[in-house]
Amino acid sequence: MSKHRICLLPGDGIGPEVIGQARRVLDALQIPADFTQGEIGYGAYQRLGTPLPEGTLEEVRRADAVLFGAVTTPPNIPGYFSAIIRLRQTFDLYANVRPCRSIPHSSSRPEINLVIVRENTEDLYSGIEHVEDGGNRAISEMVITRKASEKILNKAFTLARDLHFHKVTVVHKANVLRATCGLFLRVALEVAEQYPDLEMQEMLVDTCAMELIRDPGQFQVIVTTNLFGDILSDEASMLVGGLGVACSGNIGERTAIFEPVHGSAPKLAGQHKANPLATFLSTAMMLDFLGEPEPARRLERAVNETIRRGLVTEDLGGHFSTEEATSAVLDLL
Ligand code: NAI
Ligand code: MG
Repeated sequence: MSKHRICLLPGDGIGPEVIGQARRVLDALQIPADFTQGEIGYGAYQRLGTPLPEGTLEEVRRADAVLFGAVTTPPNIPGYFSAIIRLRQTFDLYANVRPCRSIPHSSSRPEINLVIVRENTEDLYSGIEHVEDGGNRAISEMVITRKASEKILNKAFTLARDLHFHKVTVVHKANVLRATCGLFLRVALEVAEQYPDLEMQEMLVDTCAMELIRDPGQFQVIVTTNLFGDILSDEASMLVGGLGVACSGNIGERTAIFEPVHGSAPKLAGQHKANPLATFLSTAMMLDFLGEPEPARRLERAVNETIRRGLVTEDLGGHFSTEEATSAVLDLL
């Protein structure tokens, strides 16, 4: 069996703690892999003068897949940038994929199994901004292109097929943002025609925000533009247990970076309190991407079982340390 080349990017704060535990899990699953590691984030900046060293970019370039922890992004250092946002741009990781599935815990609503697919490169996050009228008028441009829309919509429809779903909900605000969202919606209608086996539903973003609370079980794949996806995916993660279990993937044509949704949680760092399960579920997503669905399902089942038995960290109401919660997962693999 050929070996995967997996690059680990631990980063700052609790990042190294959760990535260290993910390494224990990958070893226990006996995934045939060579592991490499790269420095990233604020610690890298302090040691090497940049949050994203060239050596790290090279490791990402050579890897089949990347598992990323978290970085600290201090707001007031001139010229500093978020290393993870730069990575998404550099490798054109155009799809941000966030599954939300019910977990056996009181903080999770039952019968939710949906995936939010968010465009990751344009929209209001295009970075084209300026201020005029002596600082009294500010403009951020919302950019939507046919090319990026086609890519993200095809990704969403393909994913729906892979997951044996039958419905894709296209979320937009084309009634008001006629030019930008109008283009996205037109492209969606064209792309949908290529997937006659799937039902396409369209929904306004405000309606979607409401429906996610009222009846989240109606959704399967939700696909939308960058800003709407950013907001809706945080909303959806709170329906199923929150940051301690929220996983994600940034997926491009050539590579993909998988990461827990949470940040570096500086206050938790070094205290053995970080919940490693979000990173384990991200690891399962990475295993699917690498063509290893069997260990991915084993890992997801073990994670769910530890939650069911309460063998969890404080954020989920347990009293386990990061390491003990990992050992519980390993025992159930
Ligand atoms: P955060 O996600 O680090 O923490 C928010 C809250 O959730 C805190 O109360 C924290 O204790 C809790 N939390 C987060 N992860 C947890 C885990 N695994 N187990 C248990 N509790 C957990 O967000 P915050 O505090 O806004 O940002 C901290 C730093 O992280 C900032 O520098 C920010 O820029 C960075 N950040 C990085 C991200 C990334 O690397 N992708 C994403 C979000 C924030
Ligand atoms: Mg975020």
